[in-house]
Amino acid sequence: MPRVNRTAVLSLLIVSSCVFLLFQLHYYRKYVTKQQGGPLLSPVHHLTNRAVQWQVLKKFLALAHHFHLPLFLADTLALSLLSQHALRQRDRVVQEPQCSVLCTDRPVLAFGVHASSWESTPEFVAAAQTKGFELLELRGKDPRLSSLDTLSGEEIPLHFLFRLDGYIIHVVFLYERSGNYLWHGPLRLRADMDRTFAPFSLLDYGRYAGAYDRPELILTVLDRLDVRVPRNITHFLVQQRDARFLECRFHEARHFLQLYPDDSSAAALDFRRKARTLLRVTTQTLGLLHIPFWISSGTCLGWFRQCGVISYSQDVDIGIFISDFRPDIVGAFREAGLSLKHKFGKVEDSLELSFLSQDVKLDIFFFYEDGDVVWNGGTQAKSGRKFKYTFPRFSLCWAELLELKVRVPCETQDYVVANYGSTWSVPLKNWDWKSSPSNVQENGEWPRGQWAELIQVY
Ligand SMILES: *[C@@H]1O[C@H](CO)[C@@H](O)[C@H](O)[C@H]1NC(C)=O
Repeated sequence: MPRVNRTAVLSLLIVSSCVFLLFQLHYYRKYVTKQQGGPLLSPVHHLTNRAVQWQVLKKFLALAHHFHLPLFLADTLALSLLSQHALRQRDRVVQEPQCSVLCTDRPVLAFGVHASSWESTPEFVAAAQTKGFELLELRGKDPRLSSLDTLSGEEIPLHFLFRLDGYIIHVVFLYERSGNYLWHGPLRLRADMDRTFAPFSLLDYGRYAGAYDRPELILTVLDRLDVRVPRNITHFLVQQRDARFLECRFHEARHFLQLYPDDSSAAALDFRRKARTLLRVTTQTLGLLHIPFWISSGTCLGWFRQCGVISYSQDVDIGIFISDFRPDIVGAFREAGLSLKHKFGKVEDSLELSFLSQDVKLDIFFFYEDGDVVWNGGTQAKSGRKFKYTFPRFSLCWAELLELKVRVPCETQDYVVANYGSTWSVPLKNWDWKSSPSNVQENGEWPRGQWAELIQVY
């Protein structure tokens, strides 16, 4: 019996210590590991961040709502998420986490606001500060007041950055410009400003000034918050990519016009008026066909040098990439009331179209991309001689000319210098397109048998 008892006691002891050991192991796994490893698991961490971000947004949007401030979502990342989101939701219903569109992985969210609606809510900033938001205000000269006559330019708000709990809400101020478009200024930090206030390199807006068509907005609910968004998000994002705007160089232009005063004769004024009409019709016609164009040759020189048109040039010059050519261009301009004056070359080589509107000529040069240069062709009708004008590659920017929003090569000076040489700033009335340009080259002749097709003069 005692022997049995001893075995039983021993077994009991072994079993109970095993149970205790298991219990310890279980306890360790269940509580201790979780306490140490829990916060390091990314989904938990993520949700916490998003919850904070969402609270900041909620606070800010509630303030905007209270002050009737019509902010609209302009953040490229959130808008792309939103458009993908809309597509996904069409396919299946997904269990959405807390804040899936407005809380991006960036600690920044951008909103646009029409400057005029901001001006009517001066209490907004103080109210935001009361709620704990810190503010960095970036102001700049009002370009609508700078012109050839005055360069004073009052300071206007351009970008406001509101910061709370490590999140930045970037408010971009949009101003109406006379060419019927919206403009925002560049974001430039003054020397005395805090460079660590925000991750400036992550901002969508402010590297350059930008120009936009007025977006149509709709009010919607995103992540349980009321938010205005552009109705056509794709369209807005496409515009955002190519929105860079160049201000005319008023200071240099004024200097130029002091040296070479503008022609104010009736004929010159008449040309300016007609050139403006022609440029407006061109913008509308090519806009309907979705063909981008830029002002070229003398028209580009006029903008760059004197913020206007060169009245003795008597024509308007534009460039179009040949990849954007569409055969219905001619028909579209005819419908707009212009007559085709000549057509030189062919789509594969040196295409050039010329239209007449009243007595002002519109020259359309098609540009061909070739390695690190682009070129356009010229044709002398009476001899069939071909010419080639070569430019360094360029990208396109918006600019304003004669109160119209037009594109110019962003690298405008390189473009102008290529065409007119280093003396571009000196007016030259005796200009010969076959010999004067710095970048002209002889390029052979069209075969006589093809003249009827390649040299059409009306
Ligand atoms: C939205 O914009 C895109 C790009 O500009 C355009 O292709 C599309 O037709 C537009 N959609 C609507 C519904 O207007």
